[in-house]
Amino acid sequence: MLRTKTAESKVPVSNTPENVSIKPQRMGFEFGEQVPQYWLNNSHLLSHTMNALSVLFPQGEQFFVDSVRYYRDQISDPKLKAEVRGFIGQEAMHSLEHDAMNQHVRDRGMPVEELEKHLEVILSITKKLPKRHQLAITCGLEHLTAMMADMLLERSDVREDMHESMRPLWMWHAIEETEHKAVTYDVFQEVGGTYAERAFYLAFSTAALGVVASYFTTRMVLNDRSNFSLKDAARSVWRMWGKDGTFSSLIPTWLEYFKPGFHPWDHDNSELIARFKEEISAHIAPQYQNGNRRTLQ
Ligand SMILES: [Fe+2]
Ligand SMILES: [Fe+2]
Repeated sequence: MLRTKTAESKVPVSNTPENVSIKPQRMGFEFGEQVPQYWLNNSHLLSHTMNALSVLFPQGEQFFVDSVRYYRDQISDPKLKAEVRGFIGQEAMHSLEHDAMNQHVRDRGMPVEELEKHLEVILSITKKLPKRHQLAITCGLEHLTAMMADMLLERSDVREDMHESMRPLWMWHAIEETEHKAVTYDVFQEVGGTYAERAFYLAFSTAALGVVASYFTTRMVLNDRSNFSLKDAARSVWRMWGKDGTFSSLIPTWLEYFKPGFHPWDHDNSELIARFKEEISAHIAPQYQNGNRRTLQ
């Protein structure tokens, strides 16, 4: 139904630049008293928005991994095969580190377990879709994460909004999302994914993510309503959707995905990886400093 008659011109090999390597790294982040309750821009609404996003990661990233792993044996390009291995390992590490953050958010009294159960139901329904549609959803959501990652690495004002106890987690995640931003896209092309599928599912997954993330944020805010302030809410909405907003500024990049010949590395931001990689390596917990062989495949 969603297929066009002609598949997009097939990209037979990985298009990730040679200077980008995709390797998983466990970090061992810890979150405790040092994290302020409103760790993002000192804002109630912004902090809960990102807490809600973090709750989506562990299960969401497992969905990404499953959708790519299904096609693993159909990939012939050895470089792309190795990148898929790296992608699976990186997303598995993201899940573990965000689990640690989510545990902290739960300890602060947020309804994390209940929201995780809702997400489980949503994903179990999504998993009834044909496999290639699931892969197209993953491609769409990887585009969204790559856009946000690029913004975080590019804009010092966005980084500085984050409290120093939270910033390394999000920076590390942004670096790795940038490294593997084209892996699912290249797999999708390799297995014959069409323009119509990927375009439809970017719109679909953006809308779905918007609804789910808004619902999760609302639940967090309601749970902490005694600290709600209209002034903070207005300021936060402006920060996200006003001039140079963290979400509004991403609209042109979001639209680029609809170009017929689009590829995630059309925008080569590998320089940002190099710029921040060393800084973030300093945050690896001692037990993981000698590399981490666990790739959870
Ligand atoms: Fe991730
Ligand atoms: Fe990712």
